[in-house]
Amino acid sequence: MNKQKVLINCDAISKIYKKGKQEIKPLQELDLDIYQGEFLALMGPSGSGKTTLLNLLAGIDTPSGGRLTFNGTEITNFSRRKLTKFRADNIGYIFQLYHLVPVLTAYENVELPLLIQPMSGKERHKRVSKAMELANISDRAGHYPNQLSGGQEQRVAIARALVSDPPLIVADEPTGDLDQESARKILELLKYLCTELDKTVVMVTHDPNAAAYADRTLHLEKGVLKEEADVAH
Ligand SMILES: Nc1ncnc2c1ncn2[C@@H]1O[C@H](COP(=O)(O)OP(=O)(O)OP(=O)(O)O)[C@@H](O)[C@H]1O
Ligand SMILES: [Mg+2]
Repeated sequence: MNKQKVLINCDAISKIYKKGKQEIKPLQELDLDIYQGEFLALMGPSGSGKTTLLNLLAGIDTPSGGRLTFNGTEITNFSRRKLTKFRADNIGYIFQLYHLVPVLTAYENVELPLLIQPMSGKERHKRVSKAMELANISDRAGHYPNQLSGGQEQRVAIARALVSDPPLIVADEPTGDLDQESARKILELLKYLCTELDKTVVMVTHDPNAAAYADRTLHLEKGVLKEEADVAH
């Protein structure tokens, strides 16, 4: 991990949800620096705001207060339109339950994010093939999601997250639905993306064994972050 370059700076960011008269404050004045090339694990009890934080980092949602800076650009007050472009350029999102499109093959699922970008068919093919190779799932290119195992589906989802070559990959419990061996392969792949390709990965997990792959683990409790000592792996 290169601790020189801060990719994301959270400066006192808060999130408030309003439901009628009720206010829910999952994040309160949270400060956090995330470094380029870092593999960061985020733990904490259910409802502690992990997904909320991930969505802010990924530009899916905007903070209610504070400042969020990504690669030197403040994105706190980006419009929806600007955020959409920001996400397409910078973010790969991986979900617990893969979220693949069932009527598309593995290859077509990975290709999907590129279809909204101006690009020749040849260039697109090159990128899809490369992402599938990285995720070690090229041999299943023609399969539909229901013809794949859970671990294979997640590798397709990772290829899809990688295909636009984003600096940040966020993953919300990416191994939550997998057996140990499939989980291990996914975690090794995420680690590889950080160490070899200088990607930054922020992963939410409930599993301490999964968190052990990360460079750093943060615990979110009642909207406040607690840091564990840096552990080298
Ligand atoms: N869109 C929303 N509107 C209102 N409240 C919300 C919304 N999204 C999340 N919340 C509330 O914010 C709090 C944090 O939710 P969040 O999904 O971030 O938790 P989490 O740590 O990811 O939990 P889990 O481990 O169960 O996934 C919860 O109390 C939740 O009910
Ligand atoms: Mg969650």
